[in-house]
Amino acid sequence: MIVKHRLPVSRIPEWSFRRTRQFPAEGVAVSTRPPQRLRSAVAAIDVRPTDRILEIGCGRGVAATMVCERLGTGRYVGVDRSATAITAATTRNVESVAAGTARFVTAALGELDPAEFDPFDTVFAVDVNVFWVRPAAVELAVIRRLLSPGGRLHLFFEPPDPARIDAMRDALVDHLTSADFASQTTTTGRLLAVVAQ
Ligand SMILES: C[S@@+](CC[C@H](N)C(=O)[O-])C[C@H]1O[C@@H](n2cnc3c(N)ncnc32)[C@H](O)[C@@H]1O
Repeated sequence: MIVKHRLPVSRIPEWSFRRTRQFPAEGVAVSTRPPQRLRSAVAAIDVRPTDRILEIGCGRGVAATMVCERLGTGRYVGVDRSATAITAATTRNVESVAAGTARFVTAALGELDPAEFDPFDTVFAVDVNVFWVRPAAVELAVIRRLLSPGGRLHLFFEPPDPARIDAMRDALVDHLTSADFASQTTTTGRLLAVVAQ
């Protein structure tokens, strides 16, 4: 189901990804394939090699790995208010950090100083509730200042109870509109996707 809110339909390319890791002691291959919501999110943001990308609530850095695989000279910054999450994300993406492609920051979104960052082409977040549980005026104002002209905000949610999607979508659109973002929402299965400018 697609619901338009003043933006043209964005392109969501097909993408598939599979990686397995061998554990010789057991002699079995265990899939380390990232969760579908993260694979769908990274596909939807359509990373270009030169993009500057900011992820809010990056957690353990699983989406970060997929984004960095797509970057050339571009840069990824992951922000999370949890120091534990940032430590895990940094460890997981240690090579991208060493190469200067990825950087991880412990901070709440509302406390970020946009002046400390170059503008981002894409800001995205997966399952970060602040955007729908309250107006998030401070957080959305920070994102507005972090985005380059023409840059896009992508929000993704996969609620445990799909029956909540309609209420989440209505709240998100309301909060984004109040913060002067035009938005478009898409629901695919249990995944709610919002793109805003
Ligand atoms: C449900 S987890 C999702 C993690 C990851 N995006 C994923 O989908 O696997 C939400 C993450 O967002 C972080 N978070 C929540 N609110 C935040 C905020 N206002 N600023 C920064 N990080 C936030 C939490 O610490 C947590 O790591």
